[in-house]
Amino acid sequence: MRTICIMNLKGGVAKTTTAINVAAILAAEYRQRVLLIDADSQCNTTEFFGGIPEEGNLARVLRATEEPDGGVYAVSQIRPTDVTGIDLLAGDDSLMDLDLTKVETGTVRATVLRDMVALLTDRKLYDWILVDCPPSFNAAAAAALIAADEVVIPCKLDGFSLRGMTNIVQQINNMRTINPGLRLTGILPTMYYKAPEIEAAEQTLRDSGLPVYHPIRRTVKVDKMTFEQEPLRVVSPNCAAGVDYRRFVRQLARGRCA
Ligand SMILES: Nc1ncnc2c1ncn2[C@@H]1O[C@H](COP(=O)(O)OP(=O)(O)OP(=O)(O)O)[C@@H](O)[C@H]1O
Ligand SMILES: [Mg+2]
Repeated sequence: MRTICIMNLKGGVAKTTTAINVAAILAAEYRQRVLLIDADSQCNTTEFFGGIPEEGNLARVLRATEEPDGGVYAVSQIRPTDVTGIDLLAGDDSLMDLDLTKVETGTVRATVLRDMVALLTDRKLYDWILVDCPPSFNAAAAAALIAADEVVIPCKLDGFSLRGMTNIVQQINNMRTINPGLRLTGILPTMYYKAPEIEAAEQTLRDSGLPVYHPIRRTVKVDKMTFEQEPLRVVSPNCAAGVDYRRFVRQLARGRCA
């Protein structure tokens, strides 16, 4: 089982789009069992899969410091989605209240997702856990990074995003004091189009020595996907981003970045 945080502190760089499409491709085309965790108080992934459930969510899991076994409680909060092969640990807007100080004060049990992952590994229930992280470093993101083996960073190729890169890479390095096995699997350039400055930005990323995946092209069908609440493989399987996400999943599954 692989546990991957899809993370960038920058907003609007296609973290959620990546989480949803990777999960959909893995489940439908690779027959893999995927657990999606929505760690963002915006709950875009949760809404995409039908809305916030009355019972069962990540905020509750993080706050459940009184539970004797946090891992067992976390597993009890997972719900199936309508999509075969995809389960969800949902987000809700109360995740917004869980800033990092809640870890320091003990209001949040930051190791609870790590305990859950250990339990799920033993039970062999999933092949992949994908965490759709928020565009900030809060308690949910910290708990996800403590639990994960890998981080994928979706990144738009613009000046703001590139300058934010140092920050996120630094945060991942810092987390290694708590989770030494955590590694940066790769940077995934998103919303790519052909223009000299975009190509130069891609080259800058590659020159940094960080692992960089083949980009996901900018495609209008991605917005359509958010309205129709169906992944690209259903809305427009052969659109540019649909093709690119399939290639990305192939590379991710093989463990190769190129
Ligand atoms: N390849 C693409 N082509 C065109 N539009 C895209 C592409 N990928 C994402 N988008 C659009 O960019 C916007 C942001 O995407 P998304 O919500 O996935 O980003 P995010 O990083 O999860 O944002 P947030 O930080 O707010 O959680 C959405 O409107 C989405 O439709
Ligand atoms: Mg998002």
